[in-house]
Amino acid sequence: MPNPFTLSFGIEPREYISRTQQTSEIINSFMSETPSNYMYMLSGIRGSGKTVMLTNIIETFEKEKDWIVINVSPDVDILNAIAANLYSRKSIHTLFTNAKIDLSGLGIGISIENATPIFDISVALEELLTELKKKHYKVLIAIDEIVNNNNVKVFTGIYQILLRKKLPLFLLMTGLYENINVLQNEKTLTFLYRAPKIYLEPLSSFSIAQSYKSILNVDESTAKEMAKLTSGYAYAYQVLGYLYWDKITEKKKCGGVDDLIIDYDRTLSEYVYEKIWFELPDTEKKIVSLLVENGEMKNKEIRDALSLSDSQMSVYRDRLKRKGLIDVSRYGYLALNLPRFDAIAKFWID
Ligand SMILES: Nc1ncnc2c1ncn2[C@@H]1O[C@H](COP(=O)(O)OP(=O)(O)OP(=O)(O)O)[C@@H](O)[C@H]1O
Ligand SMILES: [Mg+2]
Repeated sequence: MPNPFTLSFGIEPREYISRTQQTSEIINSFMSETPSNYMYMLSGIRGSGKTVMLTNIIETFEKEKDWIVINVSPDVDILNAIAANLYSRKSIHTLFTNAKIDLSGLGIGISIENATPIFDISVALEELLTELKKKHYKVLIAIDEIVNNNNVKVFTGIYQILLRKKLPLFLLMTGLYENINVLQNEKTLTFLYRAPKIYLEPLSSFSIAQSYKSILNVDESTAKEMAKLTSGYAYAYQVLGYLYWDKITEKKKCGGVDDLIIDYDRTLSEYVYEKIWFELPDTEKKIVSLLVENGEMKNKEIRDALSLSDSQMSVYRDRLKRKGLIDVSRYGYLALNLPRFDAIAKFWID
């Protein structure tokens, strides 16, 4: 039997720990008769499970007959991709041709007799969505890993206008905190500030332990110990499970978690932590370095050590928290929250 765990990113894992609360918040909100939100942004650190959660939500909507789901990449002309996707769907195509919507001028479909071709993509989308709205269809656009590029900027600008016209267009995006932050600071896109953001929470340690227990056949206390070692970090859950499975199927006796630590650290480091570390801006790196060296620290100790003002410190603290690198649940304290990050990152600090 192949390893049920995976070291790959971005594809739905066979062993999936559900995120019921955050997932149903989005689904219920979009499906409500009078939706209070048409847009959500999922954010979290690399490996926290954004793509998997997005895919999971998309699948729910794909099963609904009145929902049309379009998955677009931020690397293409998003508006055009949406119009082309809608226009080419067999099930709704006649709605558009009956309404004499001719997009041949935009390179989409063929010309229609007695129709005036549309040359403006935002007009095209407005007309397509108006027809869909009459038939109670709703359209969900999913964009994984948004970045601040022209495609995303142009799209979000037009999206805002279509939404004001009360067209049934829903948007679900994922992105690293830093990318979302740059995007919403764009002058014309400040409405993104108001978009609800979901910061991915750690997976339930109870569910992780249960899953290890049943798949790896380990006893309760080993399962708990392993769950603890993942700190609920989605990628770590896969890595640890993967390594354990590998070990037991090699018919070597696994001497418990201690046997796996070297490989665990190496995998986390190679696949994610190096990237996370080297992408950190200077001051954030200094704060993280202090936490690597000292463990949990008081806000005030860090502020003094780096000669930061109160307001500077609170900005950096907030950024690191939103990025998903630190835990601030203990009042006045900062602590690293990725498993084994301290043990691994200490090699990068000079
Ligand atoms: N709910 C979950 N249960 C179990 N494993 C999960 C879950 N979510 C994600 N994973 C696993 O965690 C890893 C990272 O997931 P994913 O690719 O979704 O992360 P991401 O946040 O999109 O990362 P990146 O920022 O690099 O794109 C994958 O190996 C995936 O299988
Ligand atoms: Mg991803």
